Amino acid sequence: MRTQVAIIGAGPAGLLLGQLLTRHGIDNVILELRSADYVLGRVRAGVVEKGTADMLDEAGVGARMHSEGLVHDGVELAFGGQRHRISFRDLIGKAVIVYGQTEITRDLMEGRAAAGATTVYEAEDVSLHDIESDRPKVRYRHKGVEQELDCDFIAGCDGYHGISRRSIPDAVLRTYERVYPFGWLGILVDRPPVSEELIYANHERGFALCSMRSPTRSRLYIQCSLEDRVEDWSDERFYEELKRRLDDEAARRLEPGQSFEKSIAPLRSFVAEPLRHGRLFLAGDAAHIVPPTGAKGLNLAASDVFYLWQALLDFYKRGSSQGIDAYSGRALARVWKAERFSWWMTSMLHRFPDSSGFDRKIQQAELDYLRSSQAAQISFAENYVGLPY
Ligand code: APR
Ligand code: PHB
Repeated sequence: MRTQVAIIGAGPAGLLLGQLLTRHGIDNVILELRSADYVLGRVRAGVVEKGTADMLDEAGVGARMHSEGLVHDGVELAFGGQRHRISFRDLIGKAVIVYGQTEITRDLMEGRAAAGATTVYEAEDVSLHDIESDRPKVRYRHKGVEQELDCDFIAGCDGYHGISRRSIPDAVLRTYERVYPFGWLGILVDRPPVSEELIYANHERGFALCSMRSPTRSRLYIQCSLEDRVEDWSDERFYEELKRRLDDEAARRLEPGQSFEKSIAPLRSFVAEPLRHGRLFLAGDAAHIVPPTGAKGLNLAASDVFYLWQALLDFYKRGSSQGIDAYSGRALARVWKAERFSWWMTSMLHRFPDSSGFDRKIQQAELDYLRSSQAAQISFAENYVGLPY
């Protein structure tokens, strides 16, 4: 088989890139390790920046997000027994859309099927070859048969555990990492959201977040220990702990219900550089991870895809390699700013097991500054709704 761009991974990054390329007449094939149902079974954050929404519109798959997604003009921060609203609309005239990543993935899959582009699900043992030449190849096994895909470029969109990043020689790849000493225990429950907007809570017992998927479905999180197991947390214990971390009004409005998903996720910050080696590009979680505080994961995948899509258009439509040469630097400049914001929000809102009295006083001062300074709120707002591309 031959294509112009071989895309490894059918997560949001790979599917969005594929859809944008297909709509501009650039042939591409996606190779995905798992089945479509498995990919759709993953539960992930659901805050869509304006730039990401624009990209989904550009890819022709934004309609359901606009009709079913919830436009949020702000968020609430809870600390010291009170809630403080930060209005993106008033501060910078922008908003975000709350719409589950699973739904985005589904919309992208449907768009791809309608466009008739090829996706090979359950592609095993994918390996990349000749990436330093201008005729790279991808080998894989499908239904027990060895296959080879010839292409011009490979887009490594195969997430943190994928093979693309590992195909870049050790001597070339640099990695940067911070692992946080706690996790997030999250549940999904069919109960209305606690508040109309998201509540991010800082409490001495630990962080909490009240998010949502729809007007009838809540996504709730509490900071937990990395030693905790899901079985340690009955729904009753979860709600009791969450209530203690919220202000009185939010605690009263919390309607406990039986959870239908419960999981613990560790938090980490990670960046690999460069994002290009020869004819291989990395995009999304294959190249970087952010802690979920601030919900930047999907949005960063979308901005990488924006730069990569532009680079490939430059190459195929204008015969220029400029965009390709600039891809890594342009994408990383934005990645590091989102890494900074997610790290900062994580540091400001969580209880660190080894924090000193000094650290906690600084955290309180940070929160009080954000509550009282319009300059600080504008900075928060512009990062939360997403920095420009
Ligand atoms: N071969 C083929 N596909 C692979 C391989 C492999 N060796 N390894 C992983 N994959 C697939 C995974 O099964 C997954 O479907 O690559 C896909 C990567 O998707 P994501 O992990 O969703 O990563 P990405 O598309 O970059 O999306 C970033 O989604 O992961 C969340 O938090 C993340 O919100 C962020 C966004
Ligand atoms: C979510 O709804 O899952 C969510 C929202 C905001 C975050 C993280 C997760 O910062």
